[in-house]
Amino acid sequence: MSIRFDDRVAIVTGAGGGLGRHYALELAKRGARVVVNDLGGDRSGQGASDAALGVVEEIRAFGGVAIANGGSVADYDQMVEMVARATEAWGGVHILINNAGVLRDKTFARMDPADFAFVVQVHLLGSAYATKACWDTFRAQNYGRVLMTSSSSGLFGNFGQANYAAAKLGIAGLARTLHLEGARHDIRVNTIAPTAGTRMTEGLFPDAAFAAFAPEKVAPAALYLVSKDAPSGQILGAGAGVVQASYITLTPGVALNGDDLSPEGVARHWAAITDRAGEIVPSTGAEQPISIARTLQGG
Ligand SMILES: NC(=O)c1ccc[n+]([C@@H]2O[C@H](COP(=O)([O-])OP(=O)(O)OC[C@H]3O[C@@H](n4cnc5c(N)ncnc54)[C@H](O)[C@@H]3O)[C@@H](O)[C@H]2O)c1
Repeated sequence: MSIRFDDRVAIVTGAGGGLGRHYALELAKRGARVVVNDLGGDRSGQGASDAALGVVEEIRAFGGVAIANGGSVADYDQMVEMVARATEAWGGVHILINNAGVLRDKTFARMDPADFAFVVQVHLLGSAYATKACWDTFRAQNYGRVLMTSSSSGLFGNFGQANYAAAKLGIAGLARTLHLEGARHDIRVNTIAPTAGTRMTEGLFPDAAFAAFAPEKVAPAALYLVSKDAPSGQILGAGAGVVQASYITLTPGVALNGDDLSPEGVARHWAAITDRAGEIVPSTGAEQPISIARTLQGG
């Protein structure tokens, strides 16, 4: 059965180029009416252009339906305005792909606090603002699909990207909580950690890898995660046509008593504390105390 988005309204942020452009094109090809959001700045988030309009023209050229929005995800009022325009035009919003992003890479030692704040503002607050602007609509219609964009840098760390990594792991936490809060209203929230040759990775990515990691090879995973039968609360890795699943886990750990309940005891039991046998993937934060109780009871 083919996955279609007829009668769905989708917003893709940062869709004037790179990955977002491909998500917007693919959604429109499969029947969605698409809001192509992008303020069109440079890689560091400076300046503005009509990048979104170009993608809208591409979509209209093949008979698709799209409108451009030049709002910044970092400005909550502009996100509210964007959602109001989409709702006015098409009666609702069903899909949101939070994809907009910027880079201001430097080692932490040299990083200006303002560049830390700006990157967190665009990625983390931007994802929260755009989602918040859609949330009441999703709840009222008992349907919403949200895709958050994290990164291997956030999930696993990356030299020179403290600001970006902090924002990107924050986004995964936001997604997990919205997945729990949205379930009652069939709002499904997933996270993708893409790897693609785009403006963002130009100069960071070896030239030879650029073609193999074409952004269109990430779009299938993204589209599946915003489809009607999508899972919820998942983190997928995607790049060069490979689709992966990523998990945040917890080991059973060790119950320390007496002299062992000390920094020295933690050191003595390090191997058992970090032993991954019996590790779980908690489905909510509430599973940590349950897991602790199990360990206290001896397994
Ligand atoms: N390319 C990769 O390998 C890779 C890896 C991990 C994560 N990501 C993430 O994927 C997403 C897309 O990145 P990309 O590689 O396509 O890069 P890109 O630079 O081509 O796309 C990002 C887009 O976001 C737009 N944007 C920036 N700030 C905005 C704002 N405040 N409001 C609206 N739009 C804004 C930019 O104008 C740009 O078009 C980003 O969130 C990025 O962090 C990419």
